[in-house]
Amino acid sequence: MKRSDINEIIRQADDFIRSFGYVLPPFAYWSPEEMKARRAEIGAIVDRSLGWDVTDYGKGDFDRLGLFLFTVRNGDAKDLTAGRGMLYAEKIMISRKDQMSPMHRHIVKAEDIINRGGGTLALELFESAPDGSVDETAEVTVVTDGITRKLPAGGILKLTPGESVTLLPGNWHAFWGEGADVLIGEVSTVNDDRTDNIFREKIGRFSTVEEDEAPLRLLVSDYETWL
Ligand SMILES: [Fe+2]
Repeated sequence: MKRSDINEIIRQADDFIRSFGYVLPPFAYWSPEEMKARRAEIGAIVDRSLGWDVTDYGKGDFDRLGLFLFTVRNGDAKDLTAGRGMLYAEKIMISRKDQMSPMHRHIVKAEDIINRGGGTLALELFESAPDGSVDETAEVTVVTDGITRKLPAGGILKLTPGESVTLLPGNWHAFWGEGADVLIGEVSTVNDDRTDNIFREKIGRFSTVEEDEAPLRLLVSDYETWL
């Protein structure tokens, strides 16, 4: 993706998020220079990949295949083995109208995907086969706001504003906005996006960036090279 497009997506996302009364934390508005200057005190941001995340899944067609995310909080995955500590994470995301987040599952992460406002959030769901691949036939069982629901394999679950679904490791899911852009909340297990996403198709999790202007904000995928 061009850096100029990423900058514009960040500006639009900030406006969209604020329009629902949700305000991002202070570090969302730090320039790359400020992040560099504060590097010594922001290990809990950099090491846990908090911040801006704009992905086209490496395919270069963001409007059709892409997702905007901002990781607001995230624990330390090492605490999982200890069984105590900051074992949770929170993201705020935007799926634009008809913009697909491709079919994937997680190894460790359980996630509540919440429609926080806007259009309808549609999710296509499958269970995992014993080898972890998509089970094309098994009925899918998920809990939506405390209600157990069953769908056929590949069934489409539709969430209107206020509704949410709990996806457990092994629940294959793809999702997109219907009718309008959707503000999505995610409350989950502590999460490492570099290792925890298994995609059905061969795609990447992060964008390749073409530097055609200076970054307005660093993406989490920029931290390793820019900081
Ligand atoms: Fe997911």
